[in-house]
Amino acid sequence: MQKTSYNIAIDGPAGAGKSTIARLVARRLGFVYVDTGAMYRAMALYFIRQGIGPEDEAAISQAAKAAGITIRYEDGAQQVILNGENVSGLIRSEQVGNMASATSAYPAVRAHLLDLQRDLAAYTDVIMDGRDIGTCILPDADAKIFLTASSRVRALRRYKELVEKGEMCNLQEIEQDIIERDQRDMTRKIAPLKQAEDAVLVDGSEMTIEEVADRIIQVAVSHGLKVE
Ligand code: DC
Repeated sequence: MQKTSYNIAIDGPAGAGKSTIARLVARRLGFVYVDTGAMYRAMALYFIRQGIGPEDEAAISQAAKAAGITIRYEDGAQQVILNGENVSGLIRSEQVGNMASATSAYPAVRAHLLDLQRDLAAYTDVIMDGRDIGTCILPDADAKIFLTASSRVRALRRYKELVEKGEMCNLQEIEQDIIERDQRDMTRKIAPLKQAEDAVLVDGSEMTIEEVADRIIQVAVSHGLKVE
Protein backbone atom coordinates (compact mmCIF):
# COMPACT_ATOMS: atom_id res chain seq x y z
CA MET A 1 0.00 0.00 0.00
CA GLN A 2 1.35 3.43 -0.97
CA LYS A 3 1.95 5.67 2.05
CA THR A 4 0.53 9.18 1.69
CA SER A 5 0.70 10.25 5.30
CA TYR A 6 3.23 11.33 7.93
CA ASN A 7 3.82 8.66 10.58
CA ILE A 8 5.49 8.96 13.97
CA ALA A 9 6.33 5.67 15.72
CA ILE A 10 6.86 5.61 19.49
CA ASP A 11 8.11 2.43 21.11
CA GLY A 12 9.29 1.78 24.61
CA PRO A 13 8.67 -0.18 27.78
CA ALA A 14 5.50 -0.20 29.87
CA GLY A 15 4.92 2.96 31.88
CA ALA A 16 7.42 5.16 30.03
CA GLY A 17 4.60 7.65 29.37
CA LYS A 18 4.14 6.75 25.70
CA SER A 19 0.37 7.05 25.62
CA THR A 20 0.14 10.31 27.60
CA ILE A 21 2.81 11.91 25.46
CA ALA A 22 1.57 10.50 22.16
CA ARG A 23 -1.92 11.82 22.94
CA LEU A 24 -0.49 15.27 23.66
CA VAL A 25 1.68 15.31 20.53
CA ALA A 26 -1.30 14.16 18.44
CA ARG A 27 -3.37 17.06 19.78
CA ARG A 28 -0.63 19.58 19.13
CA LEU A 29 0.03 18.37 15.57
CA GLY A 30 -3.57 17.50 14.62
CA PHE A 31 -2.57 13.84 14.18
CA VAL A 32 -4.54 10.74 15.12
CA TYR A 33 -3.18 8.84 18.10
CA VAL A 34 -3.17 5.05 17.65
CA ASP A 35 -2.73 3.06 20.86
CA THR A 36 -1.75 -0.46 19.76
CA GLY A 37 -1.39 -1.73 23.34
CA ALA A 38 -5.15 -1.25 23.70
CA MET A 39 -5.69 -3.68 20.81
CA TYR A 40 -3.54 -6.36 22.50
CA ARG A 41 -5.39 -5.67 25.73
CA ALA A 42 -8.79 -6.13 24.04
CA MET A 43 -7.62 -9.47 22.67
CA ALA A 44 -6.34 -10.41 26.14
CA LEU A 45 -9.75 -9.61 27.61
CA TYR A 46 -11.30 -11.93 25.05
CA PHE A 47 -8.94 -14.78 26.07
CA ILE A 48 -9.67 -14.19 29.77
CA ARG A 49 -13.40 -14.30 29.08
CA GLN A 50 -12.92 -17.54 27.14
CA GLY A 51 -11.19 -18.99 30.21
CA ILE A 52 -7.98 -19.74 28.30
CA GLY A 53 -4.67 -19.74 30.21
CA PRO A 54 -1.79 -17.60 28.87
CA GLU A 55 0.44 -20.67 28.34
CA ASP A 56 -2.01 -22.44 26.02
CA GLU A 57 -0.63 -21.16 22.71
CA ALA A 58 -2.75 -23.51 20.58
CA ALA A 59 -6.02 -22.41 22.18
CA ILE A 60 -5.00 -18.73 22.15
CA SER A 61 -4.01 -18.92 18.48
CA GLN A 62 -7.32 -20.53 17.62
CA ALA A 63 -9.35 -18.07 19.71
CA ALA A 64 -7.48 -15.08 18.21
CA LYS A 65 -9.28 -15.69 14.91
CA ALA A 66 -12.63 -15.11 16.59
CA ALA A 67 -11.63 -11.87 18.33
CA GLY A 68 -12.78 -9.13 15.97
CA ILE A 69 -10.92 -5.93 16.87
CA THR A 70 -11.71 -2.55 15.35
CA ILE A 71 -11.21 0.96 16.58
CA ARG A 72 -13.15 4.16 16.29
CA TYR A 73 -12.73 7.68 17.64
CA GLU A 74 -15.12 9.50 19.94
CA ASP A 75 -14.24 13.17 20.56
CA GLY A 76 -10.73 12.33 19.41
CA ALA A 77 -10.32 9.46 21.89
CA GLN A 78 -9.60 5.97 20.58
CA GLN A 79 -12.25 3.37 21.41
CA VAL A 80 -11.47 -0.32 21.05
CA ILE A 81 -14.30 -2.51 19.87
CA LEU A 82 -14.22 -6.26 20.56
CA ASN A 83 -16.77 -8.16 18.48
CA GLY A 84 -19.07 -5.14 18.46
CA GLU A 85 -18.65 -4.25 22.17
CA ASN A 86 -16.79 -1.12 23.24
CA VAL A 87 -14.34 -2.56 25.80
CA SER A 88 -12.20 0.57 26.26
CA GLY A 89 -13.21 0.88 29.92
CA LEU A 90 -12.44 -2.78 30.73
CA ILE A 91 -8.85 -3.22 29.56
CA ARG A 92 -6.75 -1.12 31.97
CA SER A 93 -6.40 -3.62 34.84
CA GLU A 94 -3.12 -5.33 35.78
CA GLN A 95 -4.75 -8.68 35.00
CA VAL A 96 -5.53 -7.67 31.41
CA GLY A 97 -2.09 -6.00 31.04
CA ASN A 98 -0.27 -9.15 32.13
CA MET A 99 -2.41 -11.33 29.87
CA ALA A 100 -1.69 -8.94 26.97
CA SER A 101 2.03 -9.09 27.66
CA ALA A 102 1.99 -12.91 27.69
CA THR A 103 -0.27 -13.48 24.70
CA SER A 104 1.25 -10.76 22.49
CA ALA A 105 4.28 -13.05 22.22
CA TYR A 106 2.30 -15.47 20.02
CA PRO A 107 2.61 -15.03 16.23
CA ALA A 108 -1.10 -15.64 15.62
CA VAL A 109 -2.03 -12.81 17.98
CA ARG A 110 0.39 -10.36 16.37
CA ALA A 111 -0.58 -11.37 12.83
CA HIS A 112 -4.21 -10.70 13.69
CA LEU A 113 -3.46 -7.02 14.42
CA LEU A 114 -0.80 -6.26 11.83
CA ASP A 115 -3.01 -5.22 8.90
CA LEU A 116 -5.30 -3.15 11.08
CA GLN A 117 -2.31 -1.19 12.41
CA ARG A 118 -0.69 -0.72 8.99
CA ASP A 119 -3.94 0.29 7.31
CA LEU A 120 -4.58 2.95 9.94
CA ALA A 121 -1.24 4.59 9.18
CA ALA A 122 -1.39 4.36 5.39
CA TYR A 123 -3.66 7.33 4.71
CA THR A 124 -3.74 9.20 8.00
CA ASP A 125 -1.12 11.25 9.82
CA VAL A 126 -0.67 9.15 12.95
CA ILE A 127 1.43 8.91 16.03
CA MET A 128 1.33 5.22 16.90
CA ASP A 129 2.72 3.76 20.11
CA GLY A 130 3.61 0.19 21.03
CA ARG A 131 6.61 -2.12 21.20
CA ASP A 132 7.38 -2.97 17.57
CA ILE A 133 6.03 0.00 15.63
CA GLY A 134 9.38 1.33 14.42
CA THR A 135 10.91 -2.10 13.92
CA CYS A 136 8.03 -4.12 12.43
CA ILE A 137 4.70 -2.42 11.86
CA LEU A 138 5.89 0.85 10.29
CA PRO A 139 9.53 0.29 9.33
CA ASP A 140 9.23 3.32 7.00
CA ALA A 141 7.80 5.65 9.65
CA ASP A 142 8.99 9.21 9.05
CA ALA A 143 10.11 9.72 12.66
CA LYS A 144 10.86 7.04 15.24
CA ILE A 145 11.25 7.55 18.96
CA PHE A 146 12.29 5.04 21.59
CA LEU A 147 10.90 6.45 24.82
CA THR A 148 12.11 5.06 28.09
CA ALA A 149 12.43 5.93 31.79
CA SER A 150 14.01 4.13 34.73
CA SER A 151 11.99 1.26 36.26
CA ARG A 152 11.78 3.21 39.55
CA VAL A 153 10.33 6.31 37.87
CA ARG A 154 7.85 4.17 35.93
CA ALA A 155 6.83 2.26 39.07
CA LEU A 156 6.31 5.51 40.98
CA ARG A 157 4.03 6.88 38.27
CA ARG A 158 1.97 3.70 38.25
CA TYR A 159 1.86 3.70 42.07
CA LYS A 160 0.51 7.27 42.12
CA GLU A 161 -2.13 6.41 39.50
CA LEU A 162 -3.35 3.42 41.54
CA VAL A 163 -3.35 5.37 44.81
CA GLU A 164 -5.40 8.11 43.13
CA LYS A 165 -7.91 5.46 42.10
CA GLY A 166 -8.04 4.34 45.75
CA GLU A 167 -6.40 0.98 45.05
CA MET A 168 -4.12 -0.71 47.59
CA CYS A 169 -0.67 -1.29 46.16
CA ASN A 170 2.98 -1.76 46.97
CA LEU A 171 5.74 0.16 45.19
CA GLN A 172 8.29 -2.69 45.29
CA GLU A 173 5.79 -5.14 43.82
CA ILE A 174 4.87 -2.71 41.06
CA GLU A 175 8.53 -2.16 40.19
CA GLN A 176 9.14 -5.91 40.17
CA ASP A 177 6.13 -6.38 37.89
CA ILE A 178 7.46 -3.71 35.51
CA ILE A 179 10.91 -5.34 35.40
CA GLU A 180 9.36 -8.74 34.66
CA ARG A 181 7.10 -7.35 31.96
CA ASP A 182 10.05 -5.54 30.29
CA GLN A 183 12.00 -8.77 30.38
CA ARG A 184 9.13 -10.69 28.73
CA ASP A 185 8.55 -7.99 26.09
CA MET A 186 12.29 -7.72 25.27
CA THR A 187 13.15 -11.41 25.10
CA ARG A 188 10.21 -12.85 23.20
CA LYS A 189 11.14 -14.40 19.86
CA ILE A 190 8.72 -12.47 17.71
CA ALA A 191 8.68 -8.67 17.49
CA PRO A 192 10.56 -8.08 20.74
CA LEU A 193 10.68 -4.65 22.30
CA LYS A 194 13.84 -3.05 20.96
CA GLN A 195 15.02 0.27 19.69
CA ALA A 196 14.96 0.52 15.89
CA GLU A 197 18.36 1.42 14.46
CA ASP A 198 17.03 4.71 13.13
CA ALA A 199 15.01 5.60 16.26
CA VAL A 200 15.92 8.53 18.49
CA LEU A 201 16.32 7.52 22.15
CA VAL A 202 14.50 9.78 24.63
CA ASP A 203 14.90 9.07 28.36
CA GLY A 204 12.01 10.86 30.04
CA SER A 205 13.01 10.03 33.64
CA GLU A 206 13.99 13.61 34.42
CA MET A 207 11.76 15.39 31.89
CA THR A 208 8.25 16.80 32.12
CA ILE A 209 5.54 15.58 29.74
CA GLU A 210 5.71 18.90 27.88
CA GLU A 211 9.48 18.60 27.48
CA VAL A 212 9.18 15.10 26.05
CA ALA A 213 6.40 16.24 23.67
CA ASP A 214 8.57 19.18 22.52
CA ARG A 215 11.48 16.83 21.92
CA ILE A 216 9.34 14.48 19.82
CA ILE A 217 8.00 17.33 17.70
CA GLN A 218 11.59 18.57 17.27
CA VAL A 219 12.61 15.09 16.03
CA ALA A 220 9.65 15.01 13.62
CA VAL A 221 10.51 18.47 12.27
CA SER A 222 14.11 17.37 11.74
CA HIS A 223 12.66 14.43 9.79
CA GLY A 224 10.68 16.57 7.36
CA LEU A 225 7.47 17.39 9.21
CA LYS A 226 6.18 20.84 8.27
CA VAL A 227 4.48 22.71 11.15
CA GLU A 228 2.87 26.14 10.90
O1 DC B 1 1.30 -0.52 26.14
P1 DC B 1 0.43 -1.45 26.94
O2 DC B 1 0.90 -1.65 28.36
O3 DC B 1 -1.02 -1.07 26.88
O4 DC B 1 0.56 -2.89 26.22
C1 DC B 1 0.07 -4.08 26.80
C2 DC B 1 0.91 -5.26 26.33
O5 DC B 1 0.71 -5.47 24.93
C3 DC B 1 2.42 -5.08 26.51
O6 DC B 1 2.88 -5.74 27.67
C4 DC B 1 3.03 -5.72 25.30
C5 DC B 1 1.93 -5.82 24.30
N1 DC B 1 2.13 -4.97 23.15
C6 DC B 1 2.87 -5.48 22.11
O7 DC B 1 3.37 -6.60 22.21
N2 DC B 1 3.05 -4.77 20.97
C7 DC B 1 2.53 -3.55 20.85
N3 DC B 1 2.71 -2.87 19.70
C8 DC B 1 1.80 -2.97 21.91
C9 DC B 1 1.62 -3.71 23.06
